[in-house]
Amino acid sequence: MARSKKTKPKGKPANLTIETLLTENRVFKPNPVFVKQANLRDSAVLRKAASDPEGFWAEMAGELVWNKKWSQVLEWKAPDAKWFAGGKLNVTETCLDQHLTNGRKNKAALIWEGEPGDKRTLTYYALWKQVNKFANALKGLGVGKGDRVAIYLPMIPELIVSMLACARIGAIHSVVFGGFSPESLRDRINDAGAKLLITADGGYRRGQIIPLKHDADVALADCPTIESVVIVKRGDFLLRVKEGRDHWYHRLMQEAKSYCPPVQMGSEDPLFILYTSGSTGKPKGIWHTCGGYLTGVYATSKYVFDLKDNDVFWCTADCGWVTGHSYITYGPLANGATQVMYEGAPDWPDPDRFWQIVSENGVTIFYTAPTAIRAFMRWGKEWPDKHDLSTLRLLGSVGEPINPEAWIWYHEVIGKERCPIVDTWWQTETGHILITPIPGITSTKPGSATHAFPGISAVVLDEKGNVVKEGGGYLAITKPWPGMLRGIWGDRQRFVDTYWTKWPGIYFPGDGAKIDKDGYIWILGRVDDVINTAGHRISTMEVESALVEHASVVEAAVVGIPHELKGEALAAFVTLGKGIIGDQKLSGQLKDHVARKIGALAKPDKIIFSADLPKTRSGKIMRRLLRDIAAGKVMGDTTTLADPDVISRIKKRYEEE
Ligand code: PRX
Repeated sequence: MARSKKTKPKGKPANLTIETLLTENRVFKPNPVFVKQANLRDSAVLRKAASDPEGFWAEMAGELVWNKKWSQVLEWKAPDAKWFAGGKLNVTETCLDQHLTNGRKNKAALIWEGEPGDKRTLTYYALWKQVNKFANALKGLGVGKGDRVAIYLPMIPELIVSMLACARIGAIHSVVFGGFSPESLRDRINDAGAKLLITADGGYRRGQIIPLKHDADVALADCPTIESVVIVKRGDFLLRVKEGRDHWYHRLMQEAKSYCPPVQMGSEDPLFILYTSGSTGKPKGIWHTCGGYLTGVYATSKYVFDLKDNDVFWCTADCGWVTGHSYITYGPLANGATQVMYEGAPDWPDPDRFWQIVSENGVTIFYTAPTAIRAFMRWGKEWPDKHDLSTLRLLGSVGEPINPEAWIWYHEVIGKERCPIVDTWWQTETGHILITPIPGITSTKPGSATHAFPGISAVVLDEKGNVVKEGGGYLAITKPWPGMLRGIWGDRQRFVDTYWTKWPGIYFPGDGAKIDKDGYIWILGRVDDVINTAGHRISTMEVESALVEHASVVEAAVVGIPHELKGEALAAFVTLGKGIIGDQKLSGQLKDHVARKIGALAKPDKIIFSADLPKTRSGKIMRRLLRDIAAGKVMGDTTTLADPDVISRIKKRYEEE
């Protein structure tokens, strides 16, 4: 793969493939200055948690606000876990109410910046008040405990207010990323049977306006369960208001009462649903609970990010993804942290927007994705160098394997060789971080997420379920943990089949992993038909279904190819109908078609027209071969191919691209 870059950090040669990880052997010991003040620096805690995980989690849960204590820490009948059963709580009391009386009432909870440069700061009191009022507004629209509420908003404070207002009244929120298409929104609303949708007139991204309400209207033409829509006024964007169904957020807030009593929820009651891609075309509604989930995000925020009262924490994710749920909305607020929240793109108007925000707000902890780090590398170190980054004390990475080159760049250019880096592995399904360094204890190796968090049991297994002591295999989680998904909304069988059948009673996350001689875990990427592009999960099937819906396409196969910035990009092999010519124009049309169907994030980088696709004799498309062709690798075993000539023809087409 060709690469170009301006700065070349010392160390390993430039190579973004996963294989690079296998040769990495640098070790970075915790910085003694950091260790001295770390929330967790005694490795005895790790040993204790390993011998008594339930005791560790119970201790963590004990730091939350409960209205009734649980009767049992864990009930486990694989694959069903109940954490803190019998306990009653409302998560907003931990995230908000407690801070009104513990000295944080006037502390900044959110320091928000819009892409055009507008700014708002909400104290814990102000956030609490808005959540209460909006909770009352939702109640006034007939929303109650157990009802589903879809949220389709830009990264504005009202997104967090909406999530917490749902939690306040026991409604289950389902946030849909604002970059998803109307069709994707429609499918998610219908799958969850949502009663109400919260959206905005629009949002900003790279100077463009995203017409959220317009898109929502397209979706709502086919969403029979939606009774009401709430519209947040973000700008002065044109929209249609449907009388009787649509309500302005600011009008509802003017009329709403200031206090809404928190509905007491069972620990195991659902808190939210979040859709993620699986290996079939239909997204999975992963659902999480109140007690266990909050315990997990609280504990990991405290110990992985080492959160303290004087920190300014910034997680750059969008609340449309799980990272925004766990490490913007719930974990940091449960810890009473001050956070930065930013609406827009990192390179708008210039590639130093993030560093400007860091320096202006004195950000101390910065959590982002490898794809962003690789983009920063490409833009050049002169952009961060223009700003004072001396307040930073901890850096985090999430969403995909971080290649050692990016890790070292992050360490040197952003962290100035002073800040520990926590490479955190987890998933929508796991709810919170499961594999990560503990910054005051763990020596790190660039590219390795290191070890399981206290109370978590992570191993590498082979196909048969034998533990791999050193070498490659599948990542597996052998014991239940508090934030684990409790199911796929409305699809019990898929939950069992996807995660719990590879090895009975053991959670299968779908990632390949390697364990080295020192017991460090290296995540190698997905082993199923899911592509992780720019830290977002896309199902190959979803994109294939979108492609074959296009009138000119007969068959499509989508695979991941290495990409300098995104980690992986999508390449689509497409067979066209009789007489249709595959040219540049059609290629562009197909890419746009996928963007319209799913969202721009699913747009293939490459479309390769091919008269046939390689298939086994039983008719299964041989993705492995397509991956190899697309990645320009040497051909694998082709003896099972029904028509071996297909390969050379496809390869030729690919090389012509
Ligand atoms: O493949 C792993 C990768 O992202 C997948 C989970 O994606 P999602 O549910 O969208 O959640 C992303 C944010 C938590 C995993 O199965 N992944 C996540 N973090 C890492 C990672 N791969 C390697 N290293 C990580 N730190």
